[in-house]
Amino acid sequence: MAKYSSLLFFFFLLLNCLQNIHASPEYSRPHPRPVILTGHNRPESEPEQVHISLVGKDHMRVTWITSDKHAKSIVEYGTSPGKYHSSSVTGERTSYRYFFYSSGEIHHVTIGPLEPNTTYYYRCGGSGPEFSFKTPPSTFPIEFAVAGDLGQTEWTASTLQHIGAKDYDLLLLPGDLSYADTQQPLWDSFGRLVEPYASKRPWMVTQGNHEIEIFPIIYPHGFKAYNSRWLMPYQESSSTSNLYYSFNVAGCHVVMLGSYTDFDADSYQYTWLQADLAKVDRVKTPWIFALIHAPWYNSNAAHKGEGESMRRSMEEVLYKARVDAVFSGHVHAYERFTRVYNNKADPCGPIYVTIGDGGNREGLAMMFEKPSPSISVFREASFGHGRLKVYNKTHAHWSWHRNNDNNSVMADELWLQSFASSKSCFPETSQQESTTQKDEL
Ligand SMILES: *[C@@H]1O[C@H](CO)[C@@H](O)[C@H](O)[C@H]1NC(C)=O
Ligand SMILES: *[C@@H]1O[C@H](CO)[C@@H](O)[C@H](O)[C@H]1NC(C)=O
Ligand SMILES: *[C@@H]1O[C@H](CO)[C@@H](O)[C@H](O)[C@H]1NC(C)=O
Ligand SMILES: [Fe+2]
Repeated sequence: MAKYSSLLFFFFLLLNCLQNIHASPEYSRPHPRPVILTGHNRPESEPEQVHISLVGKDHMRVTWITSDKHAKSIVEYGTSPGKYHSSSVTGERTSYRYFFYSSGEIHHVTIGPLEPNTTYYYRCGGSGPEFSFKTPPSTFPIEFAVAGDLGQTEWTASTLQHIGAKDYDLLLLPGDLSYADTQQPLWDSFGRLVEPYASKRPWMVTQGNHEIEIFPIIYPHGFKAYNSRWLMPYQESSSTSNLYYSFNVAGCHVVMLGSYTDFDADSYQYTWLQADLAKVDRVKTPWIFALIHAPWYNSNAAHKGEGESMRRSMEEVLYKARVDAVFSGHVHAYERFTRVYNNKADPCGPIYVTIGDGGNREGLAMMFEKPSPSISVFREASFGHGRLKVYNKTHAHWSWHRNNDNNSVMADELWLQSFASSKSCFPETSQQESTTQKDEL
């Protein structure tokens, strides 16, 4: 057995090298902290890796994994602990293989309709521990936590602790989750690490390059683990792919884009994006936010230019729709740009934020270009996470919280005013002069 597992180890190491062959050697990422492997600490037969995600206006998808092939795909839930009345829903299950690895049973059960801003207690598969979550409110205020490129290191644990230490409604993750990089057991370990957070608040994710896991001929389309484990509400937003979708929550329309699928003007994603944005009612949902993995604006040597072809294809669509802000990951640092369109400051463009500093094993991207481009307002290579608190239809507050060792320290902040409330940018009356203030955009 030991021999077999070391053979497997070298096999995955080889796979890993093949996947990383394009990694650029020009920048160094010092002081990553060690990877944490999280084991299954409940009886083998019990549900593990529980996480939840929003589905439509008032439903929640509960996802978990069991090693037991006969475990039931049911969720029992209610608004008091231990009392599930007769609320029990049966869902579906899937599983996948990746070379010699076979996943457990991956259960997906959608429950609801649920009341907004309400705590629900639930149990998966008819046994095991009780979990609870709170649904997001249906009106402002609402607070998003935003963290990219998480991985599963001691830094990740610190970021998660800071995220969990102050209440929020849902988490947005712009790609790069487990850093399993084809070593499938690391997906399980990641699922266990995030369970205490992802079972309590919805986690809405999009894919990064570490989710691809393509292997020529055998797994030519990739995303096997990601699509099986992190099913997002793509059908509900008329998308045909789990790699891009959108959802509405409390007056915000959130667009999750795919950096690693087709995005050219003749692609499904492009056509879907145009149709999706055209449907947004800015009276009901005054705010629009978009997430991508590879940043369109980036003044770090790391991954320079990797988002450029997607930017050229799609930037105009977001600009014309007056998207308020775009969050990306990929670069392991924090950077905030002013309102930008077509590489120039533009009062009617989104603000762009890179928040790829969740704490993964590769460490930080230290090499920022000098001098800093004028459109880049704040940049720092430190681990941390962001918070977007939308107060009402006109005002939102963005803040970045650096991991100062064990403490979380707010190091950047900004008041944002919505385009829906802007006379000069909305609707379609751009090109007019408008002044921007330093700390309120
Ligand atoms: C959500 O519930 C909390 C506690 O019950 C309350 O203080 C808060 O105002 C509610 N939020 C919204 C947006 O309704
Ligand atoms: C919106 O929220 C901001 C920040 O709390 C506040 O200053 C402003 O007065 C609010 N606007 C309305 C219309 O309530
Ligand atoms: C951070 O927290 C860990 C465990 O909670 C503790 O062992 C360590 O000493 C702390 N480090 C600092 C710098 O406070
Ligand atoms: Fe990445």
